[in-house]
Amino acid sequence: MSQMFDVCKIRNDFPILRTKINDKLLVYLDNAATTQKPKKVLKSIKKYYETTNANIHRGVYKMSEEATRLYEEAHAVVGKFINAAAEEIVFTRNATESLNLLAYSLCSSLNAGDEILLTQMEHHSNIVPWQQLAKQRGLKVNYAEINADGTLNIESFKSLLNNKTRIVSVTHVSNFLGTINPVDELSKLAHSVNAIFIVDASQSVPHMPVDVKKINCDFAAFSGHKMCGPTGIGVLYGKKELLEKLPPFLFGGDMIKEVTFEDSKWNELPWKFEAGTPHIAGGIALAEAVKYLKKIGVENIQKHERELTMYALQRLGEIPNITIYGPSAEKRSGITSFNVGQIHPHDVAAFVDRFGVAIRGGHHCAMPLAKLLCVTGTARASFYFYNTKEEIDVLVDALKKAQEFFSMSENSNNLTNNLKTYPNTKNEFSERLKNPSQKTKNEENKNKIKIQGVIEE
Ligand SMILES: Cc1ncc(COP(=O)(O)O)c(C=O)c1O
Repeated sequence: MSQMFDVCKIRNDFPILRTKINDKLLVYLDNAATTQKPKKVLKSIKKYYETTNANIHRGVYKMSEEATRLYEEAHAVVGKFINAAAEEIVFTRNATESLNLLAYSLCSSLNAGDEILLTQMEHHSNIVPWQQLAKQRGLKVNYAEINADGTLNIESFKSLLNNKTRIVSVTHVSNFLGTINPVDELSKLAHSVNAIFIVDASQSVPHMPVDVKKINCDFAAFSGHKMCGPTGIGVLYGKKELLEKLPPFLFGGDMIKEVTFEDSKWNELPWKFEAGTPHIAGGIALAEAVKYLKKIGVENIQKHERELTMYALQRLGEIPNITIYGPSAEKRSGITSFNVGQIHPHDVAAFVDRFGVAIRGGHHCAMPLAKLLCVTGTARASFYFYNTKEEIDVLVDALKKAQEFFSMSENSNNLTNNLKTYPNTKNEFSERLKNPSQKTKNEENKNKIKIQGVIEE
């Protein structure tokens, strides 16, 4: 049952939001990287270690049985959150490990020449495992293109699907552009060629209702720490019949039913995929995080983030010479990547930190996409349900000051090493996407670029 959405009340649940950085109240806008933890989650970790710490599935004594019960129940709680059964939920360390598990286990049955389809907007965690397995097994990895507005090009996606495509793995929400991909449609397309359809749900499950049955994905991956849970606990969802067929990724204790010196039989789901002592406290705390998110209401979270995003796009748009990447507000989540003139994104992030504002600067673990956009990186503000419009105002004020500061520095020639060529206008961003190999006007006019003022086209 969801409560009335009261952001002031919600903020009281997060002790860290009262932290001062450089004498300023923390404005935490790096939620795509990791989210803050409410008191309930912190307390559940403490309570577990103080009252219930014992290894699971092994002891016949009361404390071990209670730890087992809580850990198993956590699978059911997380499963229900995405409309899956407990046995379809495997706890991993994070989304990266979930995707590696899939890459190793699924690719073991593929043959040379088989194809894997990804998109150009994937996080490294949904590129590198496939790419490396493809190298080992002679598979081909294709990348569906993106449009000039940062949405997925469905025609490109369709054109790369064929009867050799065995796996399609797509991010639900881009951690760089904020784009929300139409996973329901992509699922149908992938299944039309009998490919396995995987959703990287790292940036969706924490922020919007996700129903794996409705999407009809075969597998999904996400991380607990991006949804108010602790670090070190992640999730792999898999359809029961597919998990049953899939070979295990890690071998050892707890994932077996029977072992002889010659061979082994696997445990039932989901334990077959959870070798060794798992992150018991983490799993239990993740369930607490899910209960907390459900109480707030995932629809409320999505609505609040959408309002923040629209406000942020409007306020950021006031900054002269800013380039904002990604689609319009209705097609994006609460992630906004931007560059301010030619100031290096690391400088932008370091500068706004003086005002207590935590944003990310860099390639956001999507180097191929950054390269495609001809940027070394961007600054990125990413919101969660505890953020406010006032915090966006603090960010915008700090960015305006950054612009003043760096233009003065540029005049005194102190920061020449920081200057980089970025697509300087929205048009140029589109230009770059349409033709990645061709130089944009700004690049051709590299030496003429001024630090302030949009280049006239
Ligand atoms: C879309 C996406 N996929 C995968 C990951 C990897 O998550 P983790 O580092 O928790 O494994 C991230 C992290 O930022 C992400 O944004």
